[in-house]
Amino acid sequence: MKKITIAIDGFSSTGKSTIAKQLAHKLKYVYVDTGAMYRAVTLYAMRNKFITEDYLKKDDLINDLDNIDLSFKFNEKLGYGEIYLNNENVENEIRTLDVSKFVSRIAEISEVRRKLVEQQQQMGKKKGVVMDGRDIGTVVFPNAELKLFMNASAEKRAQRRFDELIKRGDKVTFEEILKNVEYRDHIDSTRDDSPLIKANDAIEIDNSNLTLDQQFSEIYKIVKKRIKES
Ligand code: DC
Repeated sequence: MKKITIAIDGFSSTGKSTIAKQLAHKLKYVYVDTGAMYRAVTLYAMRNKFITEDYLKKDDLINDLDNIDLSFKFNEKLGYGEIYLNNENVENEIRTLDVSKFVSRIAEISEVRRKLVEQQQQMGKKKGVVMDGRDIGTVVFPNAELKLFMNASAEKRAQRRFDELIKRGDKVTFEEILKNVEYRDHIDSTRDDSPLIKANDAIEIDNSNLTLDQQFSEIYKIVKKRIKES
């Protein structure tokens, strides 16, 4: 069967990674979580004091970009690749609210985007890939055979994120999560370089009122049809 490229974009916490992982598993495709890459660069910037609440040492980070090595290693148990920052598994550490607070400011930096986009294009070169992010259908793979744009209300998304963090044992309030979701929506969709926008040829899925099973079966139908047509 012909392998295609599936690009999944959308606002934060719209369940992009859940559907992307399910599709990759079912199709035996590679899954790439590009948000994890921006988060890992953010973690690096935080550890090296390039970013705090008070300042962003943008030039220092840009000068240090060659020292940031990102890779994904497949975890058999989980069924997807986990992200490594300079050979250290940081899959858990990049999901904290602290990283979420700073990541949009790091993702605005063009030099960071250029480095990550290049690596993403390399990873998806052979097709058979499901990649999720904000600019996959518009910048990384503008010729992807299938583009999905995920959406849901800010409250639904904040609730999902809140439940996830509470389950992990993080101490957060619903209000601060909702504020972070809305803040990131704003920055991600208004930045100059590669803002989050729906590609003209993307199919929009609003999953506010869909169960995971309903969403998967709706999307899988679309995928099968698109593979047949390609
Ligand atoms: O998908 P996520 O919430 O883990 O992404 C974290 C941040 O990274 C998000 O707020 C915006 C940025 N991002 C981006 O700018 N471009 C991408 N392709 C993926 C993520």
